[in-house]
Amino acid sequence: MAHSLKLIAAAAAALLALSPLALRAQAAKPALYTADQATAGVTVYTQACAACHGAALEGVSAPALKGAAFGEMATAQNLTVDSLLDVIASSMPQSDPGSLKPEEVGAVTAYILQQNSYPAGTAALARGGAGLKDVKVTP
Ligand code: HEC
Repeated sequence: MAHSLKLIAAAAAALLALSPLALRAQAAKPALYTADQATAGVTVYTQACAACHGAALEGVSAPALKGAAFGEMATAQNLTVDSLLDVIASSMPQSDPGSLKPEEVGAVTAYILQQNSYPAGTAALARGGAGLKDVKVTP
């Protein structure tokens, strides 16, 4: 009896110790842009994107760029951070495609990632960056 109680206590302790780690692993999104980029991206977004996609990325005449609807679109298109950068660089703003400078593409994409709970890090986001094809975009 004492033995099995000890086992139960040990198992409970192990579970308690493990669960925060497991939760963190599940929620972890990679850090792909700098905080400065996301800040610069607010300006780009407000000037070049908000009229169609909404001030809070909620979608107006154009689709939402965060939240569940964005997630569905991203899944349907198998959207990665690499293809997100490409689509923005080559087809947005829809009213003037290709008009953004490369640093504006990086900044506005950083802002969209930030709004979808990706953390800021130390390396700047740029089109064609290594490994970005392997990172799926999720809300
Ligand atoms: C004149 C309106 C308009 C503006 C301005 C605009 N968009 Fe869009 N955008 C659209 C429409 C409409 C769609 C959906 C149709 C499509 O995919 O072409 C879209 C789709 C998108 C998509 C999803 C693309 C896909 O693969 O389906 C992204 C990402 C996006 N826009 C980002 C941006 C960003 C970033 C900006 C600002 C630099 C911007 N858009 C400015 C109208 C606009």
